[in-house]
Amino acid sequence: MPISLKGRSLLTLKDFTPLEIKYLLDLSRDLKAKKRAGIKGQTLFNKNIVLIFDKSSTRTRCAFEVAAYDEGANITYLTNSQMGKKESIEDTAKVLGRYYDGIEFRGYKQETVEALAQYAGVPVWNGLTDTYHPTQILADFLTIMEHADKPLHKIKFVFVGDARNNMGNSYMIGAAKMGMHFVGLAPKSLFPEAKLINDMKKVAAETGGKIEFFESIDTAVKGADVIATDVWVSMGEEEKFDERIRLLKSYQVNMDMLKKTGNPHVIFMHCLPSCHDMNTEIGNSVFEKYGLKEMEVTDEVFRSKHSVVFDEAENRLHTIKAVMVATIGDV
Ligand code: CP
Ligand code: NVA
Repeated sequence: MPISLKGRSLLTLKDFTPLEIKYLLDLSRDLKAKKRAGIKGQTLFNKNIVLIFDKSSTRTRCAFEVAAYDEGANITYLTNSQMGKKESIEDTAKVLGRYYDGIEFRGYKQETVEALAQYAGVPVWNGLTDTYHPTQILADFLTIMEHADKPLHKIKFVFVGDARNNMGNSYMIGAAKMGMHFVGLAPKSLFPEAKLINDMKKVAAETGGKIEFFESIDTAVKGADVIATDVWVSMGEEEKFDERIRLLKSYQVNMDMLKKTGNPHVIFMHCLPSCHDMNTEIGNSVFEKYGLKEMEVTDEVFRSKHSVVFDEAENRLHTIKAVMVATIGDV
């Protein structure tokens, strides 16, 4: 049976089979080659797409917009709707479903994106919630496929930092699905929920993957192909700086950590934005309050030959395009 994702929502990669994820990654690679060749597409011709953003964004918003334009769709960017304030998610979803062929949502609760999908009657794509960030995982796995000298199922992928945030949860899910060796490196209090870990261990048992968590850096990173991290304080939890700096200061990704992998070709990844210098308001206020010039990753690692962060950022475009094309496009 050929794979078709027509009409499907992307709320979390938990809902997708390994073959469906591979299909999206292969389609992303093809769409990237098409764009590189300068070919303007029509697979989303005349489709109307609404992008709802309740949180800030650079990459996700721009990737959805450019991807839509590249393939002929029209976009509405919505930041200040009635949703959740004066109008229920259910009613909003029913209205937007009458206007649009697809809905992207970035916001706080995972339940919101799930309710939109339940009532809209058109595909809904999760552009990040507090719990998951599935489109980022597609971009990151495409980037690994492009940079690593082995297939995904042979990759040891270490996520360092707040392992229970949207990125930590989503990397673990994606890795389990693709049969990878996933290691979460964090203080115990920042491990993901036990149920999610156990569920993903079951998935990994079927795909040939492995899910592990460590507090000790040396054990966790040995033999890693990829070291990934994310901000210590995610959007919506800005009051957590004291706690996170205390918990994660010793988990900063630096050259010493990369050396401990024993892999001279280890790849460094970060979904961005990143606090790797003092060229931001947050970077400055953290320096003033805590004396830290860089947070989850040193500027040295961020700018090193190991770092593929801007390829990763570019791949948001190609993978988000694949998600839209696969679910509402003409392919
Ligand atoms: N990685 C990512 O989602 O970036 P934005 O917050 O800029 O969309
Ligand atoms: N964990 C981060 C990811 C940003 C893309 C956040 O939610 O702010």
